[in-house]
Amino acid sequence: MGFALAHRLFLCGFTVVMGSRCPDKRNDTQLEIVSIVECIRRSPIIFVAIHPEHYIDSLVSHFDHEPSLFDGKILIDISNQTCEESHLNDSSNAERLQTAISNAFVVKAFNTISSFAMQSTTTGESCKVFVASDHSIMKNKVITLAREMNFDSFNAGSIRVARHLERNTKSLFPQWQIPIVITLVIISIWLTYTLCMSFISTRTTSWNQLFLHVANETLCSSAITMLAIVYMSSNLACIFQLVNGTRERRFPMWLDRWLLSRKQLGILTFALALSHSIMTLILITPAYYSSWFHPVEVMVSTVHNQTRIVVVASLMTAKGELASLLGILTQLCMSILAITSIPAIGNLLNWREWRFVQSKLGTMTLLLAIGHVVAMVMPYWIRNFRNLHLNKF
Ligand SMILES: Cc1cc2nc3c(=O)[nH]c(=O)nc-3n(C[C@H](O)[C@H](O)[C@H](O)COP(=O)(O)OP(=O)(O)OC[C@H]3O[C@@H](n4cnc5c(N)ncnc54)[C@H](O)[C@@H]3O)c2cc1C
Ligand code: HEM
Repeated sequence: MGFALAHRLFLCGFTVVMGSRCPDKRNDTQLEIVSIVECIRRSPIIFVAIHPEHYIDSLVSHFDHEPSLFDGKILIDISNQTCEESHLNDSSNAERLQTAISNAFVVKAFNTISSFAMQSTTTGESCKVFVASDHSIMKNKVITLAREMNFDSFNAGSIRVARHLERNTKSLFPQWQIPIVITLVIISIWLTYTLCMSFISTRTTSWNQLFLHVANETLCSSAITMLAIVYMSSNLACIFQLVNGTRERRFPMWLDRWLLSRKQLGILTFALALSHSIMTLILITPAYYSSWFHPVEVMVSTVHNQTRIVVVASLMTAKGELASLLGILTQLCMSILAITSIPAIGNLLNWREWRFVQSKLGTMTLLLAIGHVVAMVMPYWIRNFRNLHLNKF
């Protein structure tokens, strides 16, 4: 990170001096390398590119020896947490550095950028620099410095935010973990049910149909279950508020987490539903969905001792067309929800427009999905109802 920063700063026109415990041994760069004390003396802004375990012997020891060394200097702490078990109540590396060297202005920044992104102009990695400090003037100087280095820099708040910043780089999709587990559990339940129904209960399906037909049945049921889970949480939130007679009371932890996971759950729902739609469009033939099509008419005519077979192409029944239409509308609405959940698109909408799409169109999507299923099962219900009626008399 030290070399990457130094080269980037050099290319952006800054004068760079690097500090090392053994400057004589470092001949692997064209940049000037001096001792750590000399480097601190000569620089108004110091990037601390060393492991936090070495802060004491590499920095604080010099401060104890010569307290005025750090007077008015900006110390940019670029470290991350090395301890997996760190909690938000524990102080960050930046806070500890500020307490140890009280007359320096410690600023947390550049810890969210990799050395690879620092050196490469074509990297797809994030180039966002979050700047946190208790010294607002120095913080603004570092924000400007990061912009001059061609990064997008943001004021992240006080030095305490460093607790978040240092931990965040360590975690892998923290908000997605629970939604992904929930999705996998739902898929497993529906897969078990579908396999039991297809191969044990009715034995009407061949194993050849495992990868598309059986998978499709699993996906569609999982998609509608997930969609219901997304919107059920807001209804529970409403019930909770009605029971308590106030909107101000905090939700229980499980409901709070559920509400906050709706975006991730929604996007996973979209992925399942899209897979179902694509698979269906591949499979949609009378061979797979016989009840969606009129029975094929085969006319056999014998003329002059020759047999002619005329097969009339089968058209879709009203049930097939209605269910397809409602399925397509569901997919369309869900795509709009998914598109507006992309921050760059969502930011183009005002609060009311975003609420309208997510809340009203979202509920509409759920209703359309229910309509899609009802259109499929309605003929069975009507037939069963008629049979029941006839049996009575
Ligand atoms: C494809 C797809 C993408 C999605 N993308 C997103 C997304 O990007 N972001 C996102 O948030 N959701 C997303 N969702 C989920 C969902 O669309 C939204 O959460 C939507 O806003 C829910 O609207 P609602 O009317 O059901 O609930 P809300 O209007 O949120 O809640 C209903 C009621 O619950 C109570 N309530 C809920 N939250 C609070 C709170 N914090 N404080 C106090 N009261 C509260 C209020 O009484 C409120 O009237 C997505 C869903 C799908 C299917
Ligand atoms: C292009 C759009 C869509 C088409 C053409 C379509 C078509 C179909 C078909 C053919 C089936 C029968 C599957 C089978 O029995 O194996 C089906 C079932 C189902 N679809 Fe869709 N679908 C579409 C989109 C959606 C979407 C977006 C959802 C939303 C969640 C959805 C939810 C369901 C559900 C829950 C079932 C199961 C119904 C049952 O078991 O009775 N579909 N769909």
